Amino acid sequence: MNLILMGLPGAGKGTQAEKIVEKYQIPHISTGDMFRSAIKEGTDLGKKAKSFMDQGALVPDEVTIGIVRERLSKADCEKGFLLDGFPRTIAQAEALENLLSELNAPLQYVIHVDVPQEKLVDRLTGRRICPECGATYHVIFNPPKVEGKCDHDGATLIQREDDRAETVSKRLEVNIEQTQPLLDFYQDKGYLVTVDGDRDIDVVFEAIDKKLQTLS
Ligand code: AP5
Ligand code: MG
Repeated sequence: MNLILMGLPGAGKGTQAEKIVEKYQIPHISTGDMFRSAIKEGTDLGKKAKSFMDQGALVPDEVTIGIVRERLSKADCEKGFLLDGFPRTIAQAEALENLLSELNAPLQYVIHVDVPQEKLVDRLTGRRICPECGATYHVIFNPPKVEGKCDHDGATLIQREDDRAETVSKRLEVNIEQTQPLLDFYQDKGYLVTVDGDRDIDVVFEAIDKKLQTLS
């Protein structure tokens, strides 16, 4: 299955992606995660992306489209993929259309996780992530079993650089502006499925999964 997961920062894309890829065994392609690991490794891509991410701005389209093109061309995507956080502009969506038609990999659904804007700041500032495996937690809404430690590998959880309050408001502003045109783009093409993301994590997953079961 060839899927896109959309939603504003903090809507729960990464959280739902973990569950979808575990059940359906498809690669999880998160442009944000790819940039963060490039930054950690100190690569040229990481150096390019860092200044934009630290300001809460989008990384330029040509850079982002380039890494997605490379990733989707890998053999493991032949059985399907879940894109998380891409596309985020109409230029990216158009580039993706061309790429998927070259790869003969038609999209099935664009799942939009919809959460009221006023809920997002608390979700982002309370988020903690595992620096080793990338698992996502929340200090109140989704705490680990042992405070401050990852359930999977025991690593000490950290806060994402761009989850500081001053960057969060800029990220939300940038993404709110970009999102509606993209929702319209995919609605017009008939791919869009909107799921109410303002419910318990497992309830949101059930709603997504119900839709995905129609594909298998
Ligand atoms: P990216 O990493 O994609 O960040 P984002 O879009 O801002 O989204 P987040 O990862 O912050 O949120 P999420 O929806 O994954 O929520 P999560 O599941 O973690 O991008 C980062 C940056 O990279 C961008 O700002 C940009 O600079 C660059 N970039 C990336 N892609 C790009 C692109 N295509 N073009 C250009 N630049 C790009 O959940 C959030 C919190 O809420 C967690 O603590 C979680 O535990 C909690 N939570 C989740 N679900 C629920 C629920 N149902 N109820 C209560 N709490 C919940
Ligand atoms: Mg995410």
